[in-house]
Order: sequence, then structure tokens, then C-alpha cells
Amino acid sequence: MWESVTIGRGGARVSRRGGVYRKESDDPRIDLVAEGERLTWLRRQGIPAAEVLDCRPGLLVTAEVPGRSAAEPWPVADRPRVVDALAGLARALHALPVADCPFDRRLAVTVPRASAAEVDLDDLDDERRGWTRERLVAELLATRPREEDLAVCHGDLCVPNVLFDPDTCQVSGVIDTDRLGVADRWNDLAIVTRSLTADCNPQYGPWAADRFLDRYGVAPDPRKIAFYRLLDEFC
Ligand SMILES: Nc1ncnc2c1ncn2[C@@H]1O[C@H](COP(=O)(O)OP(=O)(O)O)[C@@H](O)[C@H]1O
Ligand SMILES: [Mg+2]
Repeated sequence: MWESVTIGRGGARVSRRGGVYRKESDDPRIDLVAEGERLTWLRRQGIPAAEVLDCRPGLLVTAEVPGRSAAEPWPVADRPRVVDALAGLARALHALPVADCPFDRRLAVTVPRASAAEVDLDDLDDERRGWTRERLVAELLATRPREEDLAVCHGDLCVPNVLFDPDTCQVSGVIDTDRLGVADRWNDLAIVTRSLTADCNPQYGPWAADRFLDRYGVAPDPRKIAFYRLLDEFC
């Protein structure tokens, strides 16, 4: 019996059975082949990522990554260790050579795509609640950064998408890579710090976002954080 998994909000149906996860969708906007290609590429670069067992249009089957995601409950004493391991993962990912990555998520690709995309206006971040699509697009174009500090980015680096060994608090694997590609590192840093401070993840908070950036080794960039969170409204 396939057991339905309800945690993700990406739109695909996710289910699991006996150490295997199955992701299915017939929505043309959900590209599971792209996700599978990126998982496989990432594993080849030495970053722990779910192993792809089957991948074709509408279907992605992966081996279960052992462990527990950062979104599940962690003992208080382990939470800083999870945050540190997450920062270590981001550093390792962002240290991969950009020139070797075949997937392009630079602003030249993502901004035109966003400008044409549908937006779920009922699912906006609090600071943009009630905005129209036109206002979102205008703000996106007006605040687009002039330069990009390029790195290989996960693209949806939120706490449910990274799993950890509960004994060692080390990363056991990443999943949900359909937006992986070369982009400004703040694409990932904006999403991960939002995830660590979101109401739905109360075991973390501002301390965790500050600690993450400190361990990663950057000072907050409020302009880029705001822009990449806005860009994420279009995904
Ligand atoms: N290979 C896997 N190993 C372990 N857990 C997985 C795996 N694939 C999916 N999951 C679980 O299913 C959830 C949803 O899958 P995900 O690929 O993140 O879909 P969504 O796009 O809906 O977020 C994840 O947050 C995780 O809990
Ligand atoms: Mg997910």
C-alpha cells in the first residue's frame, strides 16, 4: 500500500512505500524529469541527494533518504547542530564550480519566467498580503539586483527539503531539486532564513537564521533577501 505524504506543498502527489518515495503529477508546470536530472547531477558532484530509481514525464521515484528533515521536531540541544549542518551543506553546494553546472537559474531566465507565471495570490508572504499580480511584477522589476553573486543553488532550500541523521545531526540528503541551478547565492540564503524564521517552524527563529548566516560566513543582505523572497512568490 502506498502511503500518502502530505508535508510538501509543491503540487505533486507524494507517496511512500518500503523505502521508496514516488512523486507524480500531470500538471505541465511540474517538471519531474528536470527534478530527477538535477538529483542525479547533484549526487555525481558529491553532494548527498536522493538516489533516482525511475524518472519519466509525470513520475519520479527516489530511494528514501534516511533520517529526519529539519522541519520535523528536534530536541532543543540538537537544533543548533542541525542549523550548523544546514549551513555546511549550503557552503558545500555553493562551492561547486558554476561552470560545471548545466542548469541555469540566473535572473535572465527566472525574471522573464516569473513575469509570465501565474501567482497564487492567496499564498503570499505576510508583507505582501493583498498585493495584486501587477504590483508583484512591478516590484520585482523595480528591485531586480544589478549583479549576481553566482553559485550552484538548490533553489528551494527550506527545512523540509533537507534530511539529517538524528544521531550525528549531519546531513543525510537533499530532495526537491527542481529549481536547482546557477543563481545568486542569496536565492538560497533568502529562502533558508525565511524557512528558519517561519511561524510553521517554531523550533527555530531569528537565532537560527542569524546562526545560519554566521556559520555560512556572510552578513545579511536585506536588499537581496527581500528580492529573492519576492521572486519566490512566482514559483
Ligand atoms: N527520497 C526521499 N526520502 C525521504 N523523504 C522524502 C523523499 N522524497 C520525498 N520525501 C518526503 O516527502 C516530502 C515531500 O516531497 P518533496 O519532494 O519535497 O515534494 P514537494 O515538492 O511537495 O515539497 C518531503 O518533505 C519529505 O518529507
Ligand atoms: Mg519539498
